[in-house]
Amino acid sequence: MTIKICRISGDGIGPEIVAEASKVLDTVLAGSGNSAVYQDVLMGGCSIDKYGVPLTDEAIDTARKCDAVLQGSIGGNTTTSPWYKLPPEKRPEAGLLKIRKALGLYANLRPAYLYSELSESCPLAEKNGEPRKFDLIMVRELTGGLYFGARHTEEVNGILTATDTDVYNENEIRRIARTAFDVAMKRRKKVTSVDKANVLDTSRLWRKITKEVSEEYPEVSLDNMLVDNCAMQLVRDPEQFDVILTENMFGDILSDEASMITGSIGMLPSASLCETSFGLYEPSHGSAPDIAGKNIANPLATILSASMMLRYSFDMIKEADAIEEAVRKTLSDGIRTTDIMPADKEKAASMKPVSCSEMGDAVAARIK
Ligand code: IPM
Ligand code: MG
Repeated sequence: MTIKICRISGDGIGPEIVAEASKVLDTVLAGSGNSAVYQDVLMGGCSIDKYGVPLTDEAIDTARKCDAVLQGSIGGNTTTSPWYKLPPEKRPEAGLLKIRKALGLYANLRPAYLYSELSESCPLAEKNGEPRKFDLIMVRELTGGLYFGARHTEEVNGILTATDTDVYNENEIRRIARTAFDVAMKRRKKVTSVDKANVLDTSRLWRKITKEVSEEYPEVSLDNMLVDNCAMQLVRDPEQFDVILTENMFGDILSDEASMITGSIGMLPSASLCETSFGLYEPSHGSAPDIAGKNIANPLATILSASMMLRYSFDMIKEADAIEEAVRKTLSDGIRTTDIMPADKEKAASMKPVSCSEMGDAVAARIK
């Protein structure tokens, strides 16, 4: 089978990491007698430079005609890049929000898993004298809430005033809650729903609907947790979590926190899914403009996103597992980009430092 992938390399380190993910994908597909064809489209700053907008309608049409989207990262330095002098709706991030909305990608899955090979890089202290060991997945609502509510800035009695609106309806909450419970059924059957129900109406509705949905899943346990507490629990005891279900803005913030405790933000993949098998797969990290073009970025989050693509959009479980196993083998062979080098000098000396492209080669070479 030939799978048709819309490839969005994007800005900053995006082209470098997407090249490595494509390399690994092609290797694993060739191994099982399959192949991928790529349709490259621009999104973000590179699209602004060429077309004056962060995402064209033609690019969305191209994505629609493909089976899945593989994406790098978009955006630049928000204080120095000219892209951020443009009105907000013309900036790079607007392209990302537009494609998520246009393709109905409401369910964002962000697994945060600590490889035992990287427990040295986990910034958390050991637990009872043992290295940390956690495996959680964040299910983030992606097309609602503060990100898509009405916003404007106006002068009120001569005072500049900005307004953003947080909106959720029960249907949006119900479908993402079902996603979280479905994911939990394939894992340890525990959902922690995160909200700010002590303050926000959207959160109170979130709790009500999530509880209703939980009744459809008697085998899955449901806890509610306030978002500020969750931020603390993630660095205190991440082992307690299986599936974290949360809304768009809280999920954005908590997923960066969850990724960092896995050793590096460069490790965390993501899948953005809709009601069909179509999906968009991207690393959870940003475009890291400070290291762009230096061939030192960590491509593993994007490589692992390609693995999620095979698993969720194509049901190619063997191939997805093969990528994950190759990543693990690469790590256990001591191969490290800069961001996942142990801080301890002696330990670092026993590792093999590699560039972004060498990391891609190393994973591809370990595909069985
Ligand atoms: C993410 C990113 C985006 C978001 C930005 C780039 C708009 O931070 O995917 O987490 O906030 O969703
Ligand atoms: Mg984010």
